[in-house]
Amino acid sequence: MPLDRRARPENPAPATGTLVLPDREFEIIRQMVKSQTGISLSLHKRDLVISRLARRLRTLGLDSFTEYIQYLRADSDGGELVHMINRITTNKTDFFRERHHFQLLHDKLLPALHEAGEKSGQRVLRAWSAGCSSGEEPYSIAITLSEFFANRPGWDYKLLASDLDTVMLEKASQGEYEPALVEPVGKAWLGKYFDRQGRGEGALYKVKPELRQMITFRKFNLMHPEYPLKVPLDFVFCRNVLIYFDLEDKVSILTKFHRVLKPGGHIFVGHSESLMMVKDLFRFVDTTVYRKL
Ligand SMILES: C[S@@+](CC[C@H](N)C(=O)[O-])C[C@H]1O[C@@H](n2cnc3c(N)ncnc32)[C@H](O)[C@@H]1O
Repeated sequence: MPLDRRARPENPAPATGTLVLPDREFEIIRQMVKSQTGISLSLHKRDLVISRLARRLRTLGLDSFTEYIQYLRADSDGGELVHMINRITTNKTDFFRERHHFQLLHDKLLPALHEAGEKSGQRVLRAWSAGCSSGEEPYSIAITLSEFFANRPGWDYKLLASDLDTVMLEKASQGEYEPALVEPVGKAWLGKYFDRQGRGEGALYKVKPELRQMITFRKFNLMHPEYPLKVPLDFVFCRNVLIYFDLEDKVSILTKFHRVLKPGGHIFVGHSESLMMVKDLFRFVDTTVYRKL
């Protein structure tokens, strides 16, 4: 089957409203998503799957999910699977989302890390934004680090930012945002850390190279059996990601984070997530912030 089949105007796929996702095809998609990403799509997500994939079917000129499954299976290099996963993932994010995390980082965690580093002579800080979506989270962390270390010279601080969704990762590494998206950054930091490109409605704010250079963007699937990091981490942000996984996968992911964190390292999770299921690995520090035991 030619994999580059485009929508044929004489044979358009039905509009979203008339697309049906039969049980068998829904189950196949659920299993593919689960095995590729760990994301556990519950049975009531059928309409969400239809709405997220309808446009893809139209683009490909396919009339039904039965045809789409055939198409996915015929695609030996897995390119279509990547397209599908990119559409299924939920990417909602914001600059300085859950602002209390950045406050805690700046006011408590970084001063403690700084003091310990100054004592030991190890002036190195490494952190990870796991499930970074379009970049707002790692750039918010990078701004917080820049602000903190501005008057504390001699430190080497860097951030890894990863996601499974290649479209989001591309956006993240571009670091260009519409004016409405950068509102939470505030005027002073907008001027300091972003370059404005263009005017009026078409204006974009681009993250300055100094900030972007602090971050390494990588495609990484948290379901990978190993987290191959060379240097142990001071903290991990994995927020609003675990929510999509079942208990077994959550425990497995948290165990791997535990391994790559320094003794006493911290993990930040989303507002509706908790680490109750791994009490032997992490201790509660503050709302949705935990410390490695
Ligand atoms: C809702 S966003 C959260 C973004 C950001 N952490 C925040 O809280 O604002 C969840 C992100 O997790 C990513 N994700 C989902 N499953 C993943 C996996 N198995 N490995 C890596 N990233 C994954 C999605 O692609 C998506 O960008």
